This record gives sequence, structure tokens and C-alpha cells, in this order.
Amino acid sequence: MSAAAEPGALQPDLYDYDFENDPLATLNRLRAEDPVHWSRHGFWYLTRYEDCATVLKDPVRFSSMAAGWGGENPLARKGAGQSKDEQGISQTLSVSFNQMDPPNHTRIRSLVVQAFSRRSIEDRRERIQAVSDDLLDAAAARGAFDLVADFAFHVPIIVASEIIGIPAGDREAFRSAFEKTAALMAPKRSKESWAEAVEAGRFVGRYMRDLITERRAAPKDDLVSALIAEEDANGALSGPELSSALSTIYTAAGTTTERFISSGLYLLLSHPEQWRALVADRSLLAGAVEEILRFHHPTQSTSTNRRCTIDVEMGGKTLRAGDTVRVGLGAANRDPAAFADPDRFDIRRKPAVPALSFGVGPHFCIGAALARFEARLAIETVANRWPNLRLVTTAPVKDPRRHDRYREIIVAIA
Ligand code: HEM
Repeated sequence: MSAAAEPGALQPDLYDYDFENDPLATLNRLRAEDPVHWSRHGFWYLTRYEDCATVLKDPVRFSSMAAGWGGENPLARKGAGQSKDEQGISQTLSVSFNQMDPPNHTRIRSLVVQAFSRRSIEDRRERIQAVSDDLLDAAAARGAFDLVADFAFHVPIIVASEIIGIPAGDREAFRSAFEKTAALMAPKRSKESWAEAVEAGRFVGRYMRDLITERRAAPKDDLVSALIAEEDANGALSGPELSSALSTIYTAAGTTTERFISSGLYLLLSHPEQWRALVADRSLLAGAVEEILRFHHPTQSTSTNRRCTIDVEMGGKTLRAGDTVRVGLGAANRDPAAFADPDRFDIRRKPAVPALSFGVGPHFCIGAALARFEARLAIETVANRWPNLRLVTTAPVKDPRRHDRYREIIVAIA
């Protein structure tokens, strides 16, 4: 435990499934009673908007280096006992630019941003519309369908794979292997899921290396080729950095946007007056997208991590150099000091400050515009097709392994 950390009376298990299941009650209590909270798992957890924004805007006092897992990095914990595969995965994760500080972060991020914007999001409109229409056509034939499995799950994966350059025929194998690698960072996992994750990590690493070799020989109109061109032009990106940047983008783009679309449609349909208002007046769409992001942050129960570079005073506590700080973005978005009546879902809300859903500062989400665009288009397409869509599900079914992820939301078309 940090020398400065005094355990408060409130000691929720922030790794517990019950917390993931319903994090808001706990987060609201923490904000009110112990906003700069020392968790029994060995990290600080922040729940106030102001504190969260302060940390994210300040890479000098709050570093992103090696901050990814908070107090419990399962790979680092194994230390010298790591297998060759585990060492490879550790290395890939450690050269991921979202876990770097300036100047390395600035160098790689600017290359990714340039490569990313070569084809603007508007240029993808037709393709994203076509993907959405195909999925909804198939769903329409059945009269009732699952917003998650039949729709929201597929859109971001197809879009991210196409942007990166993963061929359609490989998409499912890559997605499935990638999902298994999540166990590498999970604080609670079985021996079997660890072995499966290491094997999946090996597959993902090999796949990325082969894809890069192929595109180097024969470039295409995709992100892999664009980043290789940046690397060749500036000599500024090493092989592992390139592979790691692509993995970061894939991870960041998938389940977050899936949750954004599925929870967004669920929130709107479970507030029928607001759904009807939106169907009648599309000028409410932009505000609705922002309110969905604020109200149900796609990584509600998880957090964004930093490590203190020096001792810092915050909320009457001393955060010591080396301590991990977890920034609770979902909690910040429900802070009454930042948003009036924060637990009310209101698409007409005009907040004085932006929600922290995409972060703030030097690591602000690179895919924010794309995610907003995908969600907006998904909601608009559904509203155009079925203004009278209604919920069959009374509450979304959650993923048994990740309770903060919806698995099933059934809707009826008539
Ligand atoms: C609703 C969907 C999304 C949410 C809520 C989200 C959230 C975030 C947040 C909070 C950060 C900042 C992390 C930090 O400060 O350490 C971030 C960074 C990032 N996001 Fe997203 N994201 C979403 C979608 C996407 C998409 C679609 C992409 C790419 C296609 C993407 C790519 C990235 C990348 C590459 C970073 C790292 C940026 C850096 O470290 O400089 N995200 N995202």
C-alpha cells in the first residue's frame, strides 16, 4: 500500500462482478464520501469530474507509461517467470502508444492521426450505411431481433477491420482470437483462460506481422499501408510500434462502439417520450448522442489509468510518486458538480462542460468522431425504418463474463 494511503471506511471490491453489474450506486457513494479513494487492490480511484479532468490533462505529473493495469498487472507480476510468449505480449503492450508519454506518444499519435484522416469519416458514410442496412434487412425479415447480436455487435468490427485492412474472410478468426486476449489483463481469470489467452496472443501477433509483410510488398487503401508509408517517409515507427498501434486501434474501436450503439438504442426506447420526440425532430439527434455517451459511458465500471511521477496532493490525500491512479470516467459523467440532475437521461440537456467519455488532454480518443458518426447513423437508420420499434426485453441481458457489456436486447418491429 502507498505510504500515504489511509483506507477509508468504504471499501468496495472494484473487481467484483456485482460492482460491474451496477457500478453507479457504488461510484455515487464513493464520490460523496471518499472521492479520492484508496482501493484495497492497490490503486487510487477518482470519481469527481474536476479531479478526473486534472489528471488526464497533466501528463507531466500523471504518466501513461506502464499505467495500464493499475496495481495489479498480471504479466508484470510474473516478472522473470514469464514464458517467451508472455514476454512477447508484454513487449507488444508496452510499446502501445496509448501507454506512452511525450515525446514518443506525440510522435506515434501524430502518424496515426494522419494515416487515420486520409480517408475522412464522411467518405465512409456510404459503406457504414450499407453495412447497417444489410444487417437490418436480415433482422427485418424476422419481425423481432436482437439489437446487440444482430446489429450493434457487427457494425464497429466490420468498420474497424475495413479501416485497418483485415480481409473479410479473416475477420471472424481475428475477432475471436483478439477477444480471448482480454484475459491477459483481467484481474480474475482461470488457468485455462490464461493459457487460451496466451495462445490467442500468439495468433494475433503472427497475424499482424504477416499482414504488415503483405502490405509492405503490395500496399492497399487501408490503415496498415498508410502507416507503413508514414514509417518509410519519416523512418519514425518501429515494427513492434506499428503492430502495437494497429492492435490498440482495433481494441479501442470494437466493444466500446458496440456498447455505445446498443445502450444508446436501449436508452432511447426505454424513454418512449424521448424516442418519439427524436423520431419527429432529427435536430435532437446530436444532443441525444452526447447524452447517451454521458449517461451510459461504454466502459462504465472500468477506468483510464495513470501513474504519479511525483507526490501530488488531491482531495486532502497525498498520492505518492509511483502510485497508480484510476480515472472513473463514468463516475465523472454523473458528478452533480458538473451536470445538473446527473442521473436523469435527457436528450435535450445543454451541459456547461463536455462529458469525459472520450477522455481529455493529450490522449483524447482518436476515434471519437468515427464512434459518434457510427452511433448517429445507426440510431437514425433504425428511426427511419421503424419509428414504432418497441422493446420486448425489460432489462438488457448482460455478458456473464463482462457484466458491463450487454449481450441481448430484443426489440419488435411492429
Ligand atoms: C464510444 C466509443 C469509444 C469510447 C467511449 C472511447 C474512449 C476512449 C478514451 C476515454 C480514450 C482516452 C484514454 C486515456 O486517456 O488514456 C480513448 C483513446 C483512444 N481511442 Fe477511443 N473510444 C471509443 C471509440 C474509439 C474508436 C472507434 C477508435 C478507433 C477507430 C478509438 C481509438 C482510440 C485510440 C487509438 C486511443 C488512444 C489515443 C492516445 O493514447 O493518444 N476509440 N478512447
